[in-house]
Amino acid sequence: MAEVVIVPGEAEAGELVAGAIVALIREKPDAVLGLATGSTPIATYQALARRIHDDRVDVRGVRGFALDEYVGLPPGHPEHYRAVITREVVEPLGLTPELVRVPNGDPAGIEHAGADYERAIVAAGGVDLQILGIGRTGHIGFNEPGSSLASLTRVKTLTEQTRTDNARFFDSPSDVPMHCITQGIGTILRARHLVLLAFGEAKAPAVAAAVEGPVSANQPGSAIQLHPHTTVIVDEAAASGLEHLDYYRHAWANKPAWQGI
Ligand code: PGA
Repeated sequence: MAEVVIVPGEAEAGELVAGAIVALIREKPDAVLGLATGSTPIATYQALARRIHDDRVDVRGVRGFALDEYVGLPPGHPEHYRAVITREVVEPLGLTPELVRVPNGDPAGIEHAGADYERAIVAAGGVDLQILGIGRTGHIGFNEPGSSLASLTRVKTLTEQTRTDNARFFDSPSDVPMHCITQGIGTILRARHLVLLAFGEAKAPAVAAAVEGPVSANQPGSAIQLHPHTTVIVDEAAASGLEHLDYYRHAWANKPAWQGI
């Protein structure tokens, strides 16, 4: 089962994940990070930037692959995930820009962009630690309900729910692109460690379905149950729909420190 860690808030989650990533980079200076965008991982990137700075962690060899990208946003648009990853991850962490990839959402060549991205991940030796958020629809990456659990990077159509949820980042809801290119669920499951973060009550049903519901393409987050090493880090509100809360708290309180997350 996924390990569930209940924390007071995003800052504590960020410290926990930052600690795991720093340990990974110390052991493997060219570690491959799987990078999520959205609001959820921001505190984690901030905590990680502080740790890298304070502990003088050498990140010049660290590589990264973003989960997804919008299709057809004009270059230079601030919500282009290439721009978001540069602004929120590459620059504050001091990563080497050429070592961080984002799926190519340019409509010219979009037919082979998914396969190109898959090849690049395989050539890098796979993702060591994948940071994930979860959408209210249950999506991970932009794999909306119905996505094959074996899917690889490809173009998807966003649900209207996701377009509405992401409209806050755009001038108008109709500016949110209709299509995206996203790592598939099969791609995500190949990463060696999944760290899924969720905060707030609005995510509680998706978290409960992902952790305790039946494994189903109807709830893409539930694919984490197929992975041997998943850590779900949630606040009390996002955890509120979970049935086995007491057990998760008990297991975490009694976890040997050497195991980390
Ligand atoms: P959010 O999005 O972090 O902005 O809530 C999560 C997601 O859609 O996967």
